Amino acid sequence: MEDKETTKSIGTEIMVGGIRFPSNVLMAPLAGYTCFPFRLMVERLGAGSAYTEMVSSDGLKYNDRATARLLYTDDREKLKCVQLLGSIPAVFERAAKSERLERFDVIDVNMGCPVPNVIKAGEGSALLEDLPRASKIIEACKRSGKVVSVKCRVGLNRQKIVIEEFARMCEQSGADMITVHGRTRDMMYDGEPLYDLIKLAKQSVKIPVFANGGIDSKAAAVEMMEKTGADGIMLARYGFENPLIFAELTGKTWSDTKYSLLMEQLEIAEECFDEQYVLSYVKKLASYFMKKLPGTKQYKLDLYRCGSISELRRILGFIFLR
Ligand SMILES: Cc1cc2nc3c(=O)[nH]c(=O)nc-3n(C[C@H](O)[C@H](O)[C@H](O)COP(=O)(O)O)c2cc1C
Repeated sequence: MEDKETTKSIGTEIMVGGIRFPSNVLMAPLAGYTCFPFRLMVERLGAGSAYTEMVSSDGLKYNDRATARLLYTDDREKLKCVQLLGSIPAVFERAAKSERLERFDVIDVNMGCPVPNVIKAGEGSALLEDLPRASKIIEACKRSGKVVSVKCRVGLNRQKIVIEEFARMCEQSGADMITVHGRTRDMMYDGEPLYDLIKLAKQSVKIPVFANGGIDSKAAAVEMMEKTGADGIMLARYGFENPLIFAELTGKTWSDTKYSLLMEQLEIAEECFDEQYVLSYVKKLASYFMKKLPGTKQYKLDLYRCGSISELRRILGFIFLR
């Protein structure tokens, strides 16, 4: 890979609001995936920040176990970033100012989720069609005094591209940063990102713009930076499949193997969560890690059936230390 000027800028630190992100390579919020142990791991491997799974802004008022798990963090996580989902500015303000989010440094607002039920509730990507409401939500979050970022898409479909106006609205409303998923809502999670539209967002505002979508290698990361001129990149699915990419992109040296990462994750998850969750999380991570490992098909069923942590350790040993 040629070491071009833009290539060099991958992995450099960046200021967002008043906060220093140690690198401009971020880990996206991924519902069902980016729990505390995972975020801790990618932070150690070089991610500039890693977001919680989306959390319902309204759900914060309930003291349920699921929300408590989503919000779990401790001092090992240096930069704490939470993503909120919702549609009512006053609810966002209450959530942002609440004790439950006291430890978080950054609040990200989900303005990109394409799931039909979310849209029906006026949340996620529904906000791409309601700029006045989106603006009020950002202002409401800002009143907490925290750094506020927005994660959005470029538009609803090719006929309804909103990103230029939307990015300006975010900046004018006080957002400190925008992450643009370079796909339209109707593309869901497939198809080549629309680089030109991320570039348009970058050119429309002065706050940092991060580019997201389809980054699954160092070459794809370089391509994203070069084609969009973005200030940084955010990885999602590939970051989960191969967290070592964060070290590769940020120039960190590492001695971890996928097996050692899994053992570390198991240990941290056991400290924080109940056995049922630990099993489901580590099994999920292991099956992603197995994706490109030859000859593992026969172990998939063992992994799926395994019902205790000691058995899980044994199976992971078989699979990854053969
Ligand atoms: C299973 C799954 C869960 C996701 N959860 C969230 C979420 O909680 N919040 C959010 O803003 N985006 C979420 N996304 C979108 C990703 O953060 C990201 O924008 C998208 O996957 C595109 O990036 P990629 O092509 O690198 O995966 C999710 C995507 C997937 C596939």
